[in-house]
Amino acid sequence: MPKKFYITTPVYYVNDAPHIGHTYTTVAADVLARWHRSIGEETFFLTGTDEHGAKIEEKARGLKLEPKKYADEIAEKFKEAWRQLNISNDNFLRTTDPAHIKAVEKALQSMYDKGDVYLGKYQGLYCRGCEQYKNERDLADGLCPDHKVAPEKMSEECYNFKLSKYQDELLKLIKKDKLKILPLNRKNEIVSFFETEGLEDVSFSRKNVGWGIPIPWDKSHTVYVWADAFLNYLTGLGWDGTTPLTRGAGGLDFWPPTVQLMSKDILRVHATIWPAMLLSLDLPLPQAIFVHGYFQINGQKMSKSLGNVIAPGDLIKKYGVDASRYLIMSAAVFGHDGDIGWGKFDEKYNADLANGLGNLVARASSLIGKNRLELRLKIDSDKKLIKKYKELMEDYKFNEALKLLWRKLKESDETLSETKPWKLEDKREIKNIIEPVAQNILNVVNLLKPFMPSVSEKIIQQFTAKKIVKGEALFPRI
Ligand code: MSP
Repeated sequence: MPKKFYITTPVYYVNDAPHIGHTYTTVAADVLARWHRSIGEETFFLTGTDEHGAKIEEKARGLKLEPKKYADEIAEKFKEAWRQLNISNDNFLRTTDPAHIKAVEKALQSMYDKGDVYLGKYQGLYCRGCEQYKNERDLADGLCPDHKVAPEKMSEECYNFKLSKYQDELLKLIKKDKLKILPLNRKNEIVSFFETEGLEDVSFSRKNVGWGIPIPWDKSHTVYVWADAFLNYLTGLGWDGTTPLTRGAGGLDFWPPTVQLMSKDILRVHATIWPAMLLSLDLPLPQAIFVHGYFQINGQKMSKSLGNVIAPGDLIKKYGVDASRYLIMSAAVFGHDGDIGWGKFDEKYNADLANGLGNLVARASSLIGKNRLELRLKIDSDKKLIKKYKELMEDYKFNEALKLLWRKLKESDETLSETKPWKLEDKREIKNIIEPVAQNILNVVNLLKPFMPSVSEKIIQQFTAKKIVKGEALFPRI
């Protein structure tokens, strides 16, 4: 039986079009999905949109649109962005899909029947940007640190979820890496949160938010948007809301997720409410959560609410699809924040792609073409390189994996600059220099496929053709 690999991104809010922060998570998930497919694992890659709740309702009403109509428009923008970026997701789940809604109703009902959801009251603060209940200690100068607005005071009847009941069990599972939180500093953060603050019950319904899934046993409430959204990870595989999960049915074979990607803004809810819901539903927990850092511009998190975003479409227009994917994945250490900006992208594009990969491929192929050299090249011949690359990929060290490949390209560049084969006459001599260079290019681009699928394929075709010739410039200089 081939190994199974199930990877998810968060379902993104449709309060605005996608920016390259969302793109970062989605491209990283795509790189992993493509890589796991390439090593023969049965892979399922899920992404989608989170469409209910007060934030979306407010945004839609402000535009004088019905929330669903508004959500349709933005969901389409997400789909289109991922299509453009060549994202290989197996499903795109919208939380307004009727099948998802039905499953959420069933899941909530079974948690209620079990006694894990009970009628109570919430009195406190709420940040609509986060769609989260807040404590004073979560705020900085009275403001939500992520959204820079004062949370609203709320007091309403609601159905609470017994999160506190699962505190001890969850902490044990996290400590023992049964639910692995990566990188390690994030795990430590969560463990310390459990130990110092602990889990309080959380409101799972809203009385004054109409744009949501009605609570099945009390239609005067709607389901809290996070409770609704988390279940996407199950419904995206075709789960119908009945527990225990029936194995063997379609995508459900993939449960539980091998890894769930996100950035730190939503780690805490993913390490508390989400796994507690699964325990309540008697379902296996995800194996791992990987938390990457923020893309920042001038030290500020890039976000829709702060209005400092770069759209994926703008990146693609300037650099092309594969180059955009490369620039995004090499912009930061995966797991750390990274400062980005047009200047940095231009520089990296010119250095690594125009003058780097592009120039090397052009020099090598033109020498081969001009001299009509017949080469014997093999894909996959550098086992040492493959081993190192694999180790880095398994550790989610994407930008280091790219650096490793670029060091190999540089070796070939140096060989050409030192030996200057374009000045030589003897074909045999030229071939002796060029053959290993071409072989190296082929080895590198074969490993580059998850990051730059089209360009890699193009170069592989070029260098495995009967007659190798110089093609069009891959990355015109900016
Ligand atoms: N709808 C919730 C998630 C529900 S999942 C059950 C949500 N949506 S969101 O649109 O705000 O997306 C947040 C996620 O987008 C982050 O966790 C991260 O994956 C990605 N990013 C958004 N801005 C980002 C940066 N500036 N930098 C890096 N990633 C960013 O939260």
